[in-house]
Amino acid sequence: MKHLLSLEKLPRADFETILRDATGFKRERGAHPTQPLAGQTWALIFSKSSTRTRVSFETGLRELGAGVMFLNANDIQLGRGEPIKDTARVLGRMIHGAVIRTFAQSDVEDFAIYSKIPTINALTDEEHPCQVLTDIFTFEELRGPIAGKVVAFIGDGACNMPASWIFAAAKLGFELRIAAPKAFQPAAECLKRAGGKIIVTEDLLSAATGADLLYTDVWVSMGKEAEAAERLKIFAGYQINQKLVERAKPGALVMHCLPAYRGKEIDAATFEAHADTIFTQAENRLHVQKSILNWAVS
Ligand code: CP
Ligand code: NVA
Repeated sequence: MKHLLSLEKLPRADFETILRDATGFKRERGAHPTQPLAGQTWALIFSKSSTRTRVSFETGLRELGAGVMFLNANDIQLGRGEPIKDTARVLGRMIHGAVIRTFAQSDVEDFAIYSKIPTINALTDEEHPCQVLTDIFTFEELRGPIAGKVVAFIGDGACNMPASWIFAAAKLGFELRIAAPKAFQPAAECLKRAGGKIIVTEDLLSAATGADLLYTDVWVSMGKEAEAAERLKIFAGYQINQKLVERAKPGALVMHCLPAYRGKEIDAATFEAHADTIFTQAENRLHVQKSILNWAVS
């Protein structure tokens, strides 16, 4: 039984399989030679908003032969307090796999244990593994192997996105620099567990210098809305803009997992200048989700 719950737990060989097979799923879109999920029914159980993750999984599941149900967590008894382990035991007797977006990492882990069906983390407060797999796929599609390259993450260094980047870095052999205000830097314990070459700094100019990829994410993640005003003050300046791009390696990529807030984590001109990369990255969610689903049922 395979689950994709975190990049920390994903073996390097499985990283490589998912990234390799995504190329085929992209190339063969509309003409997949097999339907690895034929006859299956999957559920998407989401407690947070989503555009890209929801649409890419729903489309990917259908194109690989599965039936799909989207369950807003508030519309099922889970939203009224039914425990995740009971929800998991019910669904595990009815359906073949689940894609879950929620707050607590322990909820996706408990779901996997109790449902006994393949379970995929579609974002928790701790990790966003599917997004970082797509980001790496997109980098390699555009620039070749990421091993030995330098990735600079600018912004909220304590949220789900940098955490998944941290666990990818050691396994795939690239240098990761995280530029974030002191109070929003990744936990030392998380860096220690991951290993690899990871530099954490408040200095975004030094983090960007010579980087092959500049990456950012929202300053206010889902669930942190009550802190929005304070965060906007603390993160002011942690922005990808032309000045930062000039510090990176010539031809460096700029990526954003989206949704983007122009004038905050990225300025409008830089976003538009790199829109082709950013929307290729968004499109690749579909191809990589298919590869994740295929891996999960293989
Ligand atoms: N990047 C990402 O996960 O987007 P959604 O929140 O729209 O799914
Ligand atoms: N850190 C962001 C990622 C959105 C895709 C959030 O959790 O809202």
